Amino acid sequence: MKTKIFKIYENETDPKDLLDKIKYAGNIIREGGLVAFPTETVYGLGADALNPEAAAKIYAAKGRPSDNPLIVHIADMSDLERLTSYIPETARKLAEEFWPGPLTMIFQKSSGVPEATTGGMDTVAIRMPSHPLALALIRESGCVIAAPSANTSGRPSPTMASHVAEDLTGTIPLILDGGPVGIGIESTIVDLTEEIPMILRPGYITPAMIGKVIGDVCMDPGILSHETSGRPKAPGMRYRHYAPKAELVLVSGKTDSVIEYINEKTKEQKKLGNKTGVIGTEETRNRYLGDVVLSIGARNDEDAIARSLYAILREMDEHEVSAIYSECFEATGIGQAIMNRMLKAAGYKIIEI
Ligand code: TXA
Ligand code: MG
Repeated sequence: MKTKIFKIYENETDPKDLLDKIKYAGNIIREGGLVAFPTETVYGLGADALNPEAAAKIYAAKGRPSDNPLIVHIADMSDLERLTSYIPETARKLAEEFWPGPLTMIFQKSSGVPEATTGGMDTVAIRMPSHPLALALIRESGCVIAAPSANTSGRPSPTMASHVAEDLTGTIPLILDGGPVGIGIESTIVDLTEEIPMILRPGYITPAMIGKVIGDVCMDPGILSHETSGRPKAPGMRYRHYAPKAELVLVSGKTDSVIEYINEKTKEQKKLGNKTGVIGTEETRNRYLGDVVLSIGARNDEDAIARSLYAILREMDEHEVSAIYSECFEATGIGQAIMNRMLKAAGYKIIEI
């Protein structure tokens, strides 16, 4: 299959051209095909969420296990009513505050949502994205759009159209290229079918922000620790994920000791003839001996770190390093989401110094 890439940059693309491209994309979705598109978090791989055959194509294109449910993307609150059998008051409050935006909520599903979309579950994950192209595509297609991140299963989520092209060229008919995304890690997921709402995946919307709107909220214990997790409630969080090809090891401790440790490891690897990658920060990048040293951003700029994390993991793959060492970050605010993704990418390998 030939994969088209339509470049649509705000303020650069002629409005008529933009409309034609969105119409073309909407038509593919309506006819049961796949379109990759930008959202404010990461790029998504979209299909008509209420068409089981279309949803099945997503699983096939990504190589995704069929028991891992998809998030349904909506553009209007009226869609929420028809997709769910019950909308708790807490959901209305959260939608009021955070939609459109990077928050996904889990509801009891209505009978209209096929199990092909929910991975056989009787609940459904729903989010109203804020990216103008995502909203335009949903509206133009006339569908609600099931969309996981547009990477092949297990690889880091795509934060630019070129990442999608890397993974899915030849497999899907169209990629809408809206430039790099703004946030860079996937939406926060909160389960509202529990008595006390539970965060299943941390993201840009933090537990404190959610707590401020609805009061009590708890965390899936699997979010930052492997051992205590049991079975995470979001099936997708069970799989090794977001992972670069080389082994990633996180190193935690005082800055000087972390640098010293990583430099020692780099020397050891060099003796074995191996190429080492290091993920450092603006402050530390010049102090590493690694063959490939990449800065993830300034240490106190969590937004920048979130934005560059997945691109850096992919870049390490391109350099074909055989081991990657990374600094750790504070697990507060959006840092919690960053550490959650890094721990998963590292298969929970963390050295405390
Ligand atoms: O930011 C995002 O959420 C992006 C963009 C494209 O919107 N999408 C995304 O989708 O990250 P995906 O498929 O990569 O991750 C969806 C996660 C998975 O971990 C899945 O198991 C969980 O949501 N999930 C979906 N439906 C669920 C349900 N009914 N109950 C529990 N977890 C659910
Ligand atoms: Mg994903």
